[in-house]
Amino acid sequence: MCGIVGYLGKKQAAPVLLDGLRKLEYRGYDSAGLAIMTPEGEIDIAKAKGRLKVLEELTRGGKSLSGVCGIGHTRWATHGEPSENNAHPHCNDEKTIAAVHNGIIENYAELKEKLTRKGYNFYSQTDTEVATKLVDYYYKKYGDPIRAISEFALRVRGSYALAVINKDYPDSIFAIRKDSPMIVGVAGGDAFLASDVPAILKYTKSVYYVDNMQIARLEKGGVTFYNLDGEEVSKEIVEISWDAEAAEKGGYEHFMLKEIHEQPKVVKDTLNYIYRNGGLDFSEVGLSDGDFKKINGIVVVGCGSAYHAGVVMQYVTEDLARVPVRVELASEFRYRNPVLTDELVIAISQSGETADTLAAVRAAREKGLKTLAIVNVVGSSIAREADYVFYTKAGPEISVATTKAYSAQLIACYAFAIKLAKLHGQIDGDYYAKLLKELLSLPEKIEYLLSRKELIQKFAAKTMDRNDVFFIGRGTDYAVCIEGSLKLKEISYVHSEAYAAGELKHGTISLIEDGTLVLGILTQKNLVEKTLSNLIETASRGALIAAIAAESVKLSENSLDFVFRIPDSDEHFIASLAVIPLQFFAYYLSVLRGNDVDKPRNLAKSVTVE
Ligand code: G6P
Repeated sequence: MCGIVGYLGKKQAAPVLLDGLRKLEYRGYDSAGLAIMTPEGEIDIAKAKGRLKVLEELTRGGKSLSGVCGIGHTRWATHGEPSENNAHPHCNDEKTIAAVHNGIIENYAELKEKLTRKGYNFYSQTDTEVATKLVDYYYKKYGDPIRAISEFALRVRGSYALAVINKDYPDSIFAIRKDSPMIVGVAGGDAFLASDVPAILKYTKSVYYVDNMQIARLEKGGVTFYNLDGEEVSKEIVEISWDAEAAEKGGYEHFMLKEIHEQPKVVKDTLNYIYRNGGLDFSEVGLSDGDFKKINGIVVVGCGSAYHAGVVMQYVTEDLARVPVRVELASEFRYRNPVLTDELVIAISQSGETADTLAAVRAAREKGLKTLAIVNVVGSSIAREADYVFYTKAGPEISVATTKAYSAQLIACYAFAIKLAKLHGQIDGDYYAKLLKELLSLPEKIEYLLSRKELIQKFAAKTMDRNDVFFIGRGTDYAVCIEGSLKLKEISYVHSEAYAAGELKHGTISLIEDGTLVLGILTQKNLVEKTLSNLIETASRGALIAAIAAESVKLSENSLDFVFRIPDSDEHFIASLAVIPLQFFAYYLSVLRGNDVDKPRNLAKSVTVE
């Protein structure tokens, strides 16, 4: 959601900025722009509505903008429609200050009124223009660019990652953030700034994670950090282990397809993180055996697919460890004043920056509860604020619709559940060993499913004209249904519902008509017969019925229109297998319908505003 880049160094800035923005495209955007400090000391701004290629054409790949210092932005509209006028960068009337911003300034109307009284005029509907003019106001008042940014931070409510260039300081970029991600990278005499690591991975792996309300000043020689009092603060540089290739398509047509294929490796890498000497070792997470033993209740929070991983976690953990687990949407949890005693709050998030999940972690900590983050991005806000961190090893995930990060989250959830069950005395050594063996066999089984993707491709081709798809299942099969249905909505734009199969009769069955596609997930042995009956009931109302079924589930296959088999596995972990054909189904439908698979309309990868 909005991408920011900044560059200052020896190279021409605009092509570097465009390259960085391209790497951030996955975040979702509807317009883009650049502001460059020209060799003559002027600020040159180029903006365009639509895809980045429009801006690239306008600036001849950045070549038409000369200068070695600049800032760039991809905008995901919040205040004001997507248009060239509302696109960032924004500037003051004299064009001596320009800024890009990610986030939402909640009190922008109030600030706009104040600035209007001081004689400012506004040309756009954005909160960012207000932010830019606020910085300008305080710069004019105090003549100090760091002070101007501190004054801005003290008056603004909301979230922001803000980068500013100032004609009086042609060799500097000033930046600050609060609750919106921002990193700063350095390499030789070059300095970079970005919303996320992939934007600068090609140039450097040495980064600083800017803290909330910390100001950064990038110069050719490096970067200096300040607190709001303008005092210098020291920060540690972090070396990123991801390589640049991991953020490239590597021969696949789409990032999503590549990321689906990376799942065996991701699952293996995530297991390797905690599997040591034949057992599960959570010392890197920071959780000791004693900590596990003290856990009497769990609340899992997350958004989107991360929430869906939480639903799987609830089923698996309660069944194995007999510890009560509640799973909640982070956006509800944070505002509903839940009754909490001494639960461990587990926040699941790929990006580690989702605004609602971060707020849920903060709410839990304010109530004195311990928090565990299951997060993919090292150094992200949720990872830094939680008490314990389990890093999923999915590597950079670029496609907006998550696949490999979700799979890695499931592994973290299973490992946690097994460890908890063991330390609470709910499973014996033999069962523990059996469960671990099953976990370790998942990568190979996923690999096998990848080799059968053409079957799903053909099924997608046959069903591409369906306008309504229902997913039904019980237990963890239901948890997989909600993820499969979300994938379909996200990228193929097909209307879809996920239903606990037992709920179907309570209303939804009235929506089934000739041609509706109903897909049942059938892996939980004691439940499949029931789900199968529900599936057949929809067929008698005209539905086309299909099943994703475990190998050993007995079916009279000719009563179904399509059956896709997945290898048997321990039932607790079979979600990791059942989800693969559903990812492919959404992927192929999206391709067949001619959609932008990796960058679906209206969606953002990292939702850093409410
Ligand atoms: C966005 C993405 C979803 C993702 C959700 C949570 O809506 O489009 O794919 O599941 O955010 O993101 P997180 O980074 O917290 O896992």
